[in-house]
Amino acid sequence: MGRSVKLGVCYYPEHWPEEMWANDAARMVALGLSTVRIGEFAWARIEPEPGQYDWDWLDRAIESLAAAGLEIILGTPTATPPKWLIDANPDILCCDDQGHPRQFGSRRHYSFSSKTYRRESQRVIAAMAERYASHPAITLWQTDNEYGCHDTVESNDPDAQQAFRVWLEDRYGHIDRLNQAWGTIFWSQIYRSFDEVDPPLATVTEAHPAHRLAWRRFCSDQVARYNDLQVETIRAADSNAPITHNYMGEFTQFDHRGVAAPLDLATWDSYPLGFLQMGRWAPDVKQRYLRTGHPDFAGFHHDLYRGIGQGRFGVMEQQPGPVNWAPYNPAPRPGMVTLWTLEAYAHGAELVSYFRWRQAPFAQEQMHAGLNRPDNQPATAWVEAEAALAVLTELEPDQQTEQSDVALMFDYEADWMFSIQPQGRRFQYLPLCYAFYGALRRRGLNVDIVFPGDELSGYKLIVLPSQPILSTELVESLDASGAIILLGPRSGSRDEDFAIPDMLAPGPLQAKLPICVSHVESLPPGIQESSGKFAVEYWREHIESDLSSYRSESFGDGTVWKKDQFTYLSAWPTTDFLDALIDDCASDAGLGDLPTLPDGIRIRRRGDSVFVFNYGESDFVPSSVAGLSTADPLSTIQGGASKPGAVAVYRMRSS
Ligand code: GAL
Repeated sequence: MGRSVKLGVCYYPEHWPEEMWANDAARMVALGLSTVRIGEFAWARIEPEPGQYDWDWLDRAIESLAAAGLEIILGTPTATPPKWLIDANPDILCCDDQGHPRQFGSRRHYSFSSKTYRRESQRVIAAMAERYASHPAITLWQTDNEYGCHDTVESNDPDAQQAFRVWLEDRYGHIDRLNQAWGTIFWSQIYRSFDEVDPPLATVTEAHPAHRLAWRRFCSDQVARYNDLQVETIRAADSNAPITHNYMGEFTQFDHRGVAAPLDLATWDSYPLGFLQMGRWAPDVKQRYLRTGHPDFAGFHHDLYRGIGQGRFGVMEQQPGPVNWAPYNPAPRPGMVTLWTLEAYAHGAELVSYFRWRQAPFAQEQMHAGLNRPDNQPATAWVEAEAALAVLTELEPDQQTEQSDVALMFDYEADWMFSIQPQGRRFQYLPLCYAFYGALRRRGLNVDIVFPGDELSGYKLIVLPSQPILSTELVESLDASGAIILLGPRSGSRDEDFAIPDMLAPGPLQAKLPICVSHVESLPPGIQESSGKFAVEYWREHIESDLSSYRSESFGDGTVWKKDQFTYLSAWPTTDFLDALIDDCASDAGLGDLPTLPDGIRIRRRGDSVFVFNYGESDFVPSSVAGLSTADPLSTIQGGASKPGAVAVYRMRSS
């Protein structure tokens, strides 16, 4: 029986002498890899002169990889339009907020709205798909590469400006409706026609929040429409072509569900150390997890993209060693590449593909590690991929990924809204999601990430870190789920057009939980205010209600509110506070006796296997976790399951 997860690698045949290809392919197979992703930056080789395609080299590269038995993931080359194309059509370039073109010389230098670029993308993809769609070795297509990377979702170019006006007219119908919905009377911003509305960029001070939210929605839709064009063009050549896109970590600038709609599976690019350095973590957290990445970074994204892919996801690029793009680029702790690989599997991944095969001795990414060094000797990640494969082989047969008991609701628009109007600089959506997610995972819970509008039945506990637009339909579907529901601060605080609802926050939730947020305040970092046995920080809401606040002896007076299955948290909780509240909700949800995992330990169940990941700095005895003392250790690696950087795998005995 074949493995249910495939390991693979990203490869750039155009970077290497052709004499190396066959040997590279043979060594990929010898390592145990089964997929190879190619093509996504190769436009200038595919079409060196306008309209003159050169497929010969790509034919031979594909044949060479296929002959070794590798499955090929073929990327459309649109992330890197060639110089001649840009020179002939400068309207392709994406523009900055001031409307100045961002120049050729790196990548992603195009606007999603450029009509010329849509036409040119369609042309090159059609040519590629006609040539390769029926090739038996091509088992997956990737559209473009990392939509939105390098801040390219928004572009203030003439095509985008025009398309935005059309988008607004479609949405609002009449300019008076837009003026009314946004409240453009404020600061005399009344528009007489859609033609008068510009992108809300480069204004003297803060642009209107409703205008900004509309722009974010429009830009997000433009990414999805551009992806639709890619998918339709590939499927015109092969209606059954399986297609993915490789999304990024910590990236919320477009609503990924729109892009995902026509795709077969979601993939994402996992760089745990790079993202720790780039991210908003406190200095002590960055120090503690310097060589491992944050213990919730990869898990959160696996769960997010499993949700985006409606159950099907993979890792298209896995960090193999130091990257080149963070402010500091440490090497992973020994064992971490194995750990990250197995963690992806534990969360249900069907692909883990390392980035990249060989470190390039030239160009922008010459400091980025690969599975091989520039001299073609195996780099440190090589043996770690081997170790992961050994465990995965032992894990057969396929382990199912079941629906979890717990769901976390994620909403891209929430992220946009809090970045448009944070009110307190620390009120940021992703850190709040991590806080809730971390509290669940520290109790050893598997978590599914769901989205507004998803089917919610079967969950026992649903947490919404914050849901600023809380429609009546969403409240009803939360209610109908029968789950225990925990909502965080600022839920129900805005309507679709960014206005405070007439009934005040939490809006329609008041029908189930009769509380009213009378006023809010934000607090600077360093201020923690006690609330019962715990403390809150950054954000506090003041609530009017005939109810008494919930368990004020523990959570403080006025901080947590509960009626029937609904609980509302009206402040930004500190870690201990949230842990205690999650425990309370988990116990109401009947989730049983939950372990309290030590710092840096995470567990995940897949089928009857339980994986224990040590992101911490101390040895850990996995069998001390409730339930594992009677399970069978399947495999221990890296010199003992308890070492930092190690993974232990247990198989539960059937009762
Ligand atoms: C990703 C990108 C790759 C490569 C990699 C380096 O964001 O998709 O092409 O640049 O980062 O870590």
